[in-house]
Amino acid sequence: MKQNSLAGIGTAVAMSVSPSILAGCMTDTGTPAILGGQKIRTKEWPGWPMWDPAVDEEQIIKVLRSGVWSRANVVTEFEKKWAEMIGSKRCLAVVNGTNALIAALAQSGIGGGDEVLVPPYTFIATTIAILQVGAMPVFVDTDQETFQIDPEKIEAKITPRTKAILPVHILGLPADMVRIMEIAKKHDLIVIEDACQAWLAEINHKKVGTFGNAGCFSCQNSKNIPIGEAGAIVSDDDEFMDRCFSYHNYGNPYGTMVGEVGSGTIMAGTKLRLKE
Ligand SMILES: Cc1ncc(COP(=O)(O)O)c(C=O)c1O
Repeated sequence: MKQNSLAGIGTAVAMSVSPSILAGCMTDTGTPAILGGQKIRTKEWPGWPMWDPAVDEEQIIKVLRSGVWSRANVVTEFEKKWAEMIGSKRCLAVVNGTNALIAALAQSGIGGGDEVLVPPYTFIATTIAILQVGAMPVFVDTDQETFQIDPEKIEAKITPRTKAILPVHILGLPADMVRIMEIAKKHDLIVIEDACQAWLAEINHKKVGTFGNAGCFSCQNSKNIPIGEAGAIVSDDDEFMDRCFSYHNYGNPYGTMVGEVGSGTIMAGTKLRLKE
């Protein structure tokens, strides 16, 4: 009985961990630690989030004492530096990764009647973002080796309603963006990358989030660069980024959205501005 349940655990582990990752966790005897084998890691994992009191606490006090807590210099400096660091033309900071995805989808013109191809293995926010803009999520199954969306299964799910692919770089690993972009180009589809879990992950020295039309990031507490709650959209498309900016600031015209006095494009926006 006990042996059976252990075997069950072994199967569950094997099914939920990629074969090559599992192989890397095996000890000399080939027995995983969960089945009584020798543990590879004996120390506790460090707590998260981590911060440097000397640097980070001083920055927080500086903002606090400035009295300027709404979007201003700190946010714009972050946007500039993040865009530079990942090699994107523009970055817009927003309140969280979920709303980064919603804004990017909405400002890519995705809405009711559209289908968006997405992997089922992701955090619920990815699917919710598609539903929030009124579109239909259509699942494309994962590659068992990488856990990412399987590019070879994408084309079978494309219909006349398909408007976009939303690959998720899950667990910090990059989805196969080279292949995904080839398919998107062939079928004239928009690509919005969910890079919420994959800050600075890269393929051939190109950072994830910069392959598609737009990339979305999260700074939620458990993420690579945590600050509680925050998110970011990156893109090289100025007009798209201006629309995202307008949308995140009540629809007020911004950049190319600004026209003659009184004729700027006012959209049905919302408020997603990030605090300092
Ligand atoms: C893959 C993925 N997409 C989207 C999100 C949403 O980000 P946030 O929590 O900042 O809204 C998260 C994290 O929570 C995530 O892991």
